[in-house]
Amino acid sequence: MLTKAPRGTYDILPGDSSKWHYIESIMKETAEVYGYREIRVPIFEHTELFQRGVGETTDIVSKEMYTFNDKSGRSLTLRPEGTASCARALIEHSSYAGLLPVKWYYIGPMFRYDRPQTGRYRQFHQFGAEAFGSNNPYLDGEVIMLLLEVLARLGLEEYELHLNSVGCPQCRGQYRQRLIDFIRPYQDNLCPDCQARYINNPLRVLDCKNETCHQAIEGYPTLAANLCENCLNHYDQVKGALAQQGITFIHDDKLVRGLDYYTNTAFEIHIPGIGAQSAVGGGGRYNGLVEQCGGPDLPGIGFALGIERLLLAVEQRGEKLPSPPEMDVFIAVMDSAYEAQGMKILQMLRGAGIKAEKDYNNRKARAQMKFADKIGARLVILLGEEEVEKGFITLRNMRTKEQFQVAESDMLRAVSRTLLID
Ligand code: HAM
Repeated sequence: MLTKAPRGTYDILPGDSSKWHYIESIMKETAEVYGYREIRVPIFEHTELFQRGVGETTDIVSKEMYTFNDKSGRSLTLRPEGTASCARALIEHSSYAGLLPVKWYYIGPMFRYDRPQTGRYRQFHQFGAEAFGSNNPYLDGEVIMLLLEVLARLGLEEYELHLNSVGCPQCRGQYRQRLIDFIRPYQDNLCPDCQARYINNPLRVLDCKNETCHQAIEGYPTLAANLCENCLNHYDQVKGALAQQGITFIHDDKLVRGLDYYTNTAFEIHIPGIGAQSAVGGGGRYNGLVEQCGGPDLPGIGFALGIERLLLAVEQRGEKLPSPPEMDVFIAVMDSAYEAQGMKILQMLRGAGIKAEKDYNNRKARAQMKFADKIGARLVILLGEEEVEKGFITLRNMRTKEQFQVAESDMLRAVSRTLLID
């Protein structure tokens, strides 16, 4: 047990971390281009924040949270998502008092106690963006465009954008009652989960994965047909903003999302072929969330992408993500007597920003060359008796196998030039 990571968690080994750096750099660059700035919020928050923000009846809060009491008896929870934390930070720092909208993005781990499978983990990573302080439908459009731009920059062009409007508290309140009344006569045909939740959370019956529930509620009143005028207008304008950019979407009347804070726009991005967990991202408007968390009545909209699922999608395309060279130079010291000299050269190279390494395990000369090859060194600097005595170094290009000598004082220039040309 001690030698295995907890179920649903995994290590990102050095061989894979360059992929993560690459994906994360694309996310950061794209978010900055769209005017979003990075926020880093704590990994844990007061449990009540998620209970209030995400909602007591959601699966996330009722079944999936990692909650614990700290030594002073406070109930804390490892964050299952980032939106509630952003709303809390916005209120705590009165960030809404400055220029609006406030546009933030974040990248980091989230925690949910769910059944692990391909694309589903207990510790997973999200890239999210949140914009607070505007109800402009073009901002809904911008948020979706940012998400799609990240996909495009990762070469992921085959996706399905599902879009819906879940209305405002007023029209959704009336709709909920209509839906409960509609479902009641068929309740015995629902799955046990839906039987238990259709009164408290009837909208979740719409997106139940169980085919029997779909059949049981055939002919149900749709959300779209029950929106108030304002919500209908907002939805039409969002669709217009997307259409204007040539973005195609699927109106999905059963898309209600699994978090309680959504109002109006709700969306999800699916990439077919990455397994049962095809939703790589989702989001929507949450016009009541900031107030719900104790702040002013301020609208908001955002999304989060699951980084593991994006990686699955990128790898499924069979494309190799660009990875930087692992090592530039290896210093092969032919005798331990020259180790101090080797260390001096090593630090000179590193000081100049060149990735350099030496042997620390007393390998023989030949084994050092093998080691240099294995770690992917592009050049080897050989340091033997002749070199040290005469003040030069021997440089070996590991790809072409060419070898030449340069004065030690010329070493940096020769190394940089060879690395550039090769
Ligand atoms: P969410 O749909 O719960 O939304 O999560 C967003 C994405 O995170 C999912 O589409 C999926 O790719 C990834 N994800 C979720 N759970 C797991 C898991 N157990 N393992 C791996 N990946 C997972 C939210 O979290 C909202 N906060 C999004 C949002 C931001 N809405 C407005 N602003």
